[in-house]
Amino acid sequence: MQALRREESSYTPVWLMRQAGRFMPEYREVRSKTGFLELCHNPELCAEVTVMAVNLLKVDAAIIFSDILLPLQSLGCGLEFVKGDGPVIHNPVRSLADVEKLPKIDCQESLSYVLEAVKTARRELPENIPLIGFAGAPFTLASYLIEGGSSRNFEKTKRFMYTERRAWDMLMQHLSQIVTDHLNNQIDAGAQAVQIFDSWVGCLGQSDYIEYVLPHVARTISGIKKEAPVIHFGTGTAALLELMRQAGGDVIGVDWRIELASAWQKIGYDRAVQGNLDPVVLFSNRDEIKRRAQNILKQAGGRAGHVFNLGHGVLPETPYENVKYLVEIVHELGRK
Ligand code: CP3
Repeated sequence: MQALRREESSYTPVWLMRQAGRFMPEYREVRSKTGFLELCHNPELCAEVTVMAVNLLKVDAAIIFSDILLPLQSLGCGLEFVKGDGPVIHNPVRSLADVEKLPKIDCQESLSYVLEAVKTARRELPENIPLIGFAGAPFTLASYLIEGGSSRNFEKTKRFMYTERRAWDMLMQHLSQIVTDHLNNQIDAGAQAVQIFDSWVGCLGQSDYIEYVLPHVARTISGIKKEAPVIHFGTGTAALLELMRQAGGDVIGVDWRIELASAWQKIGYDRAVQGNLDPVVLFSNRDEIKRRAQNILKQAGGRAGHVFNLGHGVLPETPYENVKYLVEIVHELGRK
């Protein structure tokens, strides 16, 4: 919490996106008996895997086990996770009429199971381990709704954005209200910080980000309760960092495609930063992991306000021992 607020801390804290996930045998054990969406809807199990990841990896923060796509399920879009194919949206949004048909949802009610998981996890976590709540950013959520699933080039999303301006703004407004509400509800339930995942926004050029995304993210973030620091994360965003900073966030998440030192310089030292080890480095060996962790800490320069993380989530096939080693070595090398 000190690092998120750019206060001096006695060491550089570390947590990992997807720290509760398929690389972990204990998670796979839980998943062998339960489907992914079923797991997300079970607050007890969500809390259990959230706390399990902290205890096993000795990271400095927990992130609630959930998924950014669950609010889309509340919108009636027919969300399914298909083995090997990832998420599928059976009723994608492709026209103004589709946007107009989206229901107004009460997040407190339709996502109550997430809030229950937050409350339970907060109760079960050690007191000194902060709990991070999260949501997808409007653009990344819109991309799933419009594409109908994951995408490489985001053709449908961009075409919609370029040709259906009014429908795009309506959709982004609708999603940003949901995101703000859902994050505020998680804060009320006990989340001490929140992260906004704009995972795919790096597919946009600067002028598109300014025109189609920035105002919506700015509104989303400005509506979040001030007591919880906001981490604003994206990937492939080296060219967008100044704009993301402008959109808001106390902490900007950075991926490995830019050196942390130049990222922080672009963002400005009046914001904290989170990142930015390439998740694939965890497929190498201890010497390499140590060298790369050291390099990132050196680039942070001992400045207050660096939270160590990967530049994106832990990959499913990552060797478990290497993940544990990363946390150990960041703690050792990051002592002030
Ligand atoms: O970080 C954490 O430990 C918290 C849990 C978390 C999950 N998803 C659990 C999950 C978080 C923060 C997310 C966010 C999320 N979900 C994002 C943004 C982060 C990112 O990775 O960019 C996105 C894009 C999603 C949507 C999503 N959920 C995808 C694309 C997939 C992969 C599908 C696949 O088959 O690989 C998921 C599934 C998912 N979400 C898993 C986990 C642990 C794996 C599902 C499983 O157990 O099989």
